[in-house]
Amino acid sequence: MLRVSVDASVAHNARVWDYWLGGQDNYLVDRQVGDHIRGVYPEIVQVARADRRFLGRAVRHLAGKAGIRQFLDIGTGLPAVENTHQVAQSQAPDARVVYVDNDPLVLAHARALLVGTQEGVTDYIDADVHDPEPILRAASKTLNFEQPVAIMLLGILNFVLDTEEAVAVVTRLVDAVPSGSYLVLTHPTTELGGAANEEAMRFWNENAVPPITARSGAEIRRLLSGVELLEPGLVSCSEWRAEEEGPPRVAQFGAVGRKP
Ligand SMILES: C[S@@+](CC[C@H](N)C(=O)[O-])C[C@H]1O[C@@H](n2cnc3c(N)ncnc32)[C@H](O)[C@@H]1O
Repeated sequence: MLRVSVDASVAHNARVWDYWLGGQDNYLVDRQVGDHIRGVYPEIVQVARADRRFLGRAVRHLAGKAGIRQFLDIGTGLPAVENTHQVAQSQAPDARVVYVDNDPLVLAHARALLVGTQEGVTDYIDADVHDPEPILRAASKTLNFEQPVAIMLLGILNFVLDTEEAVAVVTRLVDAVPSGSYLVLTHPTTELGGAANEEAMRFWNENAVPPITARSGAEIRRLLSGVELLEPGLVSCSEWRAEEEGPPRVAQFGAVGRKP
């Protein structure tokens, strides 16, 4: 039986994100912090939901038209409505998906993420994005790094506070996959967020873990420098190939790029 130690006394990102998404896998302290932030920055709920919808559109495109069969989703989050393996395997039942997160509650829920199609495979790695080597080693048991892989870094590089380190992490991951692989990224940005967003992040950093940072468009472009961006480039994730007219623009950039 899986035993994990969850700290319910301090708000954790995966659980607060789950709360904003309308999930049940969160504690009182997560709801208190989540509610306070929603009070000062109501758009945060739209950010979380737009990010998940972006995930769906990006993975549908990659597993569909782009023909990608392998996904490395780092910073998985708690199970939500459309998880990467469900979206990918709905397009391609043989898709292989490896999830990575370092939150103990995500680990506890990993079993829910590991139920995929018979043809496909899902796996879960308990690891920290700051250290890509163990992630790549463990993922290579499930993924064939001679074949294209979609590396997914949605809402996670904002927890790697040093930009040079974040660039180094992405570079190492992109170096490990062959030409024709993809990088999928979302990241909060100072360019679209206003004073309320900054106040929300300040409150977060004083009351919750792990500490977070937003980045400028130029800094986020550096994270994407190893890939060629698909249309429409680096935009608010709500506007990336939006399926509805005029979605609200959220302060979270999203992009999908292909390794040449
Ligand atoms: C904002 S949530 C995003 C979840 C999902 N990718 C999405 O876009 O909906 C960020 C996730 O990254 C995880 N995370 C934060 N820091 C991490 C780290 N250093 N290593 C691995 N995972 C981390 C959190 O536990 C959380 O599940």
